[in-house]
Amino acid sequence: MSRTFYVTTPIYYVNDVPHIGHAYTTLAADVLARYKKLKGYEVFFLTGTDEHGQKVEKAANTAGETPLELADRVVKRFQGLWEKLDIQYTDFIRTTQERHKKGVSHIFTKIMAQGDIYLGEYEDWYCTPCETFWTETQLIDGKCPDCNRPVDKLKEESYFFRMSKYQEQLLAHIEANPDFIQPKSRRNEIISFVKEGLRDLSVSRTSFNWGIPVPGNEKHVIYVWFDALTNYITALGYPDEQSAFKTFWPVDVHLIGKDILRFHAVYWPTFLMAAGLPVPKKVFAHGWWTVEGQKMSKSLQNVVEPNMLVDRYGIDAVRYFLLREVPFGLDGDFSHAALVHRINSDLANDLGNLLNRSTAMVNKYFDGVLPAPGPQTELDTAFREKTEAMVRQLDACMDELAFSKGLQAIWEVISAGNKYIDETAPWALAKDPAKREYLGTVMYTLLEAQRIVHLVLSAFMPRTSAKALGYLGWTEPCREEDLAWGRLAPGTLIVKAEALFPRIEEKEEK
Ligand code: MSP
Repeated sequence: MSRTFYVTTPIYYVNDVPHIGHAYTTLAADVLARYKKLKGYEVFFLTGTDEHGQKVEKAANTAGETPLELADRVVKRFQGLWEKLDIQYTDFIRTTQERHKKGVSHIFTKIMAQGDIYLGEYEDWYCTPCETFWTETQLIDGKCPDCNRPVDKLKEESYFFRMSKYQEQLLAHIEANPDFIQPKSRRNEIISFVKEGLRDLSVSRTSFNWGIPVPGNEKHVIYVWFDALTNYITALGYPDEQSAFKTFWPVDVHLIGKDILRFHAVYWPTFLMAAGLPVPKKVFAHGWWTVEGQKMSKSLQNVVEPNMLVDRYGIDAVRYFLLREVPFGLDGDFSHAALVHRINSDLANDLGNLLNRSTAMVNKYFDGVLPAPGPQTELDTAFREKTEAMVRQLDACMDELAFSKGLQAIWEVISAGNKYIDETAPWALAKDPAKREYLGTVMYTLLEAQRIVHLVLSAFMPRTSAKALGYLGWTEPCREEDLAWGRLAPGTLIVKAEALFPRIEEKEEK
């Protein structure tokens, strides 16, 4: 049976254009998806857009468009950016699609039919930008506790989901599955939240129209979060349980930002429990990016536009930086200086130089024909073992979504490679005909280690890796077994590499 892996990003609201916050989650999902493919998994990687709700309706009114016109326009911005960032998703779901609306109506009807959705009356505080209801006691100084913006009092007839009924079942699940909510600090927050008591949740609105109608009562539209969360199964073909749904549900990991954890770790699992469906295996909440030390916001005019970053620094540098700079799960700060520093030191200096030096030497000493390895010393075995250990470490890191730590492990091999050159001093070996076979060992070890480095790096920096593997004469598609040592055949033609990353003048960057 083939191993499967299903990873999702949040579906993005179309009332805003994409920024690095959105790019971050999508990129992480892409890296994970590519890595799992490399390891032989059958992968489903889902992203998409969240197009219903009051927020989108308001934005469309302001723009003088219908909500769908707005969505059609903004969705292209997201899809264009994903193409530009080399994101290889399997499917892109829009909540305005028929397949989605059908699935949402189905699950809503099913939960209602069994009595876990009922009609009642609502009176509470509502934060429109967050599309969230708050009780009086949750407000901070009368404002939304999440975004500190003013809230409105809403009283309306509403359908309610009997979330309270699932409190114990959810708690038991969280406690029995330590990996379900990550990172750990966030898991603790959710446990306290659930222990405080779950109230029934309002899951319909009558105050606006832009949404999926409640089946059988068209005065109501389904609450945007109930609608949005369901995308993770409707995209797989739910309610047709013989579709991709059968193969890929429950999801291996929902990647999200920390601000939307409660929706994914409390609301969503309880909806699924009510519908009699398995809950996600893992929900991972990453941190937020600030920009040059400040919160990113339209009013501060400091929103970092990923298109601009790619035009300025190149796709792979941006992909590398975002995942390397900050441990996934923690908050981080974006600055041009930090990005340029990473490009110059990690990419141009360490990674690029190692490839240049070694491919140049094979050309100089062996006319570009990879020699067979000869006798081994401790230096060669140690370097080889370090490379092999990295492959295992990286695997563990990817399971923990520790992208930065994984990249660090790869870079330790790169630094060890540069050091290995200094220690073996191939230029000296080349002068002594008696050392020619050992020179072969050094060249082989260097290039074989880099073949493995670039195979695993292909998940992070696909273009750079493809280029580097080309110089190394590796034209095979990447398969898991190719991560083993010794697959690069002696006799392979090695091309002298051009600089992978040109250095950038540091002082120019602001
Ligand atoms: N539509 C909902 C998600 C529904 S999922 C069923 C939504 N959309 S959003 O467009 O507002 O936000 C999407 C994601 O962007 C969230 O995961 C959020 O954490 C992330 N980010 C927004 N700003 C961010 C930063 N400054 N830094 C990192 N991520 C940020 O919420």
